[in-house]
Amino acid sequence: MFRPHIDLAHQRWKECVQPGDIVLDATCGNGYDTLFLAGLALNAPMGTLFALDIQPKAIKNTREMLLKKLPAIVLEKIRFFCQCHSAFPQEIVPGSVKLIVYNLGYLPGENKEKKTEAETTAKSLERAIELLMDGGLISVTIYPRHPKGEEERERVIGIAAALSPQQWDVCHYTWVNRPLSPELLLITKRSSRSKRGRHPDQ
Ligand SMILES: C[S@@+](CC[C@H](N)C(=O)[O-])C[C@H]1O[C@@H](n2cnc3c(N)ncnc32)[C@H](O)[C@@H]1O
Repeated sequence: MFRPHIDLAHQRWKECVQPGDIVLDATCGNGYDTLFLAGLALNAPMGTLFALDIQPKAIKNTREMLLKKLPAIVLEKIRFFCQCHSAFPQEIVPGSVKLIVYNLGYLPGENKEKKTEAETTAKSLERAIELLMDGGLISVTIYPRHPKGEEERERVIGIAAALSPQQWDVCHYTWVNRPLSPELLLITKRSSRSKRGRHPDQ
């Protein structure tokens, strides 16, 4: 049954994240994904949400939206960074992050030229892989029909496809008779318990 990619993504995020986890939104845009992540990870004494975007306008939009929707005790666990996601903030410890979310493309309603690019997205994904903890998930929403979107998709899928099946589960959802639908790539770092007893090609 057809389900929009965001429903599928939300379901997987919910299955993965526990209150108190560290999560990262690598393209916070207008803050909708950030808000959803805050609801999953920050209703606990611990928990941190890192929200990145290259555009000051996106950081402003996200901050303003979250200020209206979230209590101060939750807001103080969100760290904003206006920077390219090809480098992540130094304070994020490798192997510590439970979920990293990318929603590629441009900021809706703004200049479409200011969008994610194959080269920086690829660099970012390689670094995100290092940040993920066992049992963690990277979720990438891809828009291959955007200008240069196909190139970005090929880079991202290429990196994911090369990951060792002993350590990683990678699944790519496309709705093949709905050419305008975005695609969803899910990369899970297998926990050490699940690494045993399965043929690598299964
Ligand atoms: C489709 S929007 C994200 C939507 C957002 N997740 C939401 O829920 O509203 C893509 C965002 O990626 C940002 N972006 C583009 N290139 C980037 C880069 N190199 N590093 C970080 N963010 C980038 C854009 O500024 C834009 O806000």
